[in-house]
This record gives sequence, structure tokens and C-alpha cells, in this order.
Amino acid sequence: MTTLHITALTAPLGATVHGLSPAQQPAPETAHALRKALDTHLLLLLKGMSVSPSQLVTFAASFGEPASHGIVVGLAGHNCITDIRKEPEHWQNYGGTWHSDLSFQTHPPVAAVLQAKELPTTGGDTLWSNQYLAYEGLPQHLRERVDVLSAEHTSNIAFGGMAHDAVSTVHPLAPVHPRTGRRYLYVNPVSIVRLLANGDEVNDGAELLAHLIAHATQTQLLYRHSWSVGDVLVWDNRSTLHMAMNDYPGQRRVMHRVVVIDSANTRAPAPG
Ligand code: SIN
Repeated sequence: MTTLHITALTAPLGATVHGLSPAQQPAPETAHALRKALDTHLLLLLKGMSVSPSQLVTFAASFGEPASHGIVVGLAGHNCITDIRKEPEHWQNYGGTWHSDLSFQTHPPVAAVLQAKELPTTGGDTLWSNQYLAYEGLPQHLRERVDVLSAEHTSNIAFGGMAHDAVSTVHPLAPVHPRTGRRYLYVNPVSIVRLLANGDEVNDGAELLAHLIAHATQTQLLYRHSWSVGDVLVWDNRSTLHMAMNDYPGQRRVMHRVVVIDSANTRAPAPG
């Protein structure tokens, strides 16, 4: 077993993993330690690695079962890899608004692994926000309110322009994370269409949601990553939000992302 050397970032989330290459499949004990580290730090950084697409998928399997996107077609020969690409002539980027990945699914990915393949000369950072701290930082009356509300998520906001049947589901607004037993705020500006109380739409839902999103993305909750080619970042896709900056007009940026869904090796004992 590789002994992991993990140092926390000076940020509200994130840690660097030293001495481990995603090019080698971690032993089961190492994968277990990585998953525990992800529970603690929410975001793991492995600096400047040379990793092939197949190796990236194998590494991602340490955190769950690699899954295809379901709407966006995967990289040729690697359906589990989403090729996140902005070409010099593109104006919009992928993931340029705060979000978590695929929250409109009944069982959204539990984690995601992202590798920088090609970067602009400047810009193209990614930001993450700690949603445990967002929940814990709410005033008590709002915590009590969000504890009993849910939200309807749909694929139509982000992916409505692509030919597919809309996928919708309802999730609690402040779920308990099954691995840590901690509540987190589960807002997603690009998928939530309404807030619900016992199945009925909340009258002031739009105002409350806007307030929660602003609260969830405050500067003091964020880590901002300035990429180097080869960097691999893994995030807990439940207790974090993320957003890719779109500040490099006329340049190319290419990332490979693998999302993983829950499987036996990602479940933790019930809290308590
Ligand atoms: C994503 O939204 O998952 C991709 C983020 C990025 O390209 O930095």
C-alpha cells in the first residue's frame, strides 16, 4: 500500500496528495484512504501528472463507478470521459456558472475527476465552494427552514438545447451526506426550477433560492485553482459547487472529466 502524504490547502476546502500518480491503479487500501481524504477535504489535488484517458478512468474508479454523462457524448473510445473543450472561436464555456454535476439525476455522481489537458496562457481557473460551511453558516431560522424543504432539478436549463428527453428529480435542499453524517446546502443554479414544501411550490421560493445561492458562493467559502497541464482534481460532487472561469477569449482550453456514481466501495458506515 502507498502511504499517502496529504497536506491541506490554505482554503476552506482542498488538500494536495503527494507521492501518488493517477497513472497507477491505487491498491484497495490506498483507494480507501483517498476516499476518506475526500470526505475530510472535499477536494483533492494531484499536481502535474502524465495520465492517459484509460488511466484517468481507472483512477476515477477509486472513488466510485465511472459513468457516462447521459446527455453529452463522451470522448471517442472513452465514453466515461467528457471532453470539456473551449475553442478560440467559442464564446461560451462549459460549466461557467456555479453548479454541481448532473444534480437532475435521481442518483447524481458522488464525485468527479478533472484533468487539465490544454490551457490558455492565462485564465481558465476553476472555483469550488464548500457547501457544509454554507449550510453551517446560515442563521438558525434559515437552517430550520431549508432542513424541511426540497428542490426540483431538471436537465432542461443546462442541456435544453440538446436533443434529449428532460430528466427531472426532487432532492432535499439540505441533505445529510451519507458518508460524513453532515448536512450540506444542495443548491444548483443551473438545474433547480422550484423549491417545494411537502410537494407544494414554496411561494417565496425564487427569492429564497437566489438568497441561498448568493450565500453558498461567498468568497470565504471558496478555493480557486489555477491549473497547470496534467493537474488532476477530484471533488465530492455533493458537498461542493464549482464553476469554470470564462476569461480567456480567443484561446483553447481542454479538460477531461470522469464522474463516478455510488457503488459498494464508496459507501461508508452509517454515521453515529
Ligand atoms: C465542470 O464544470 O465540471 C468543468 C469545470 C472546468 O472545466 O474547470
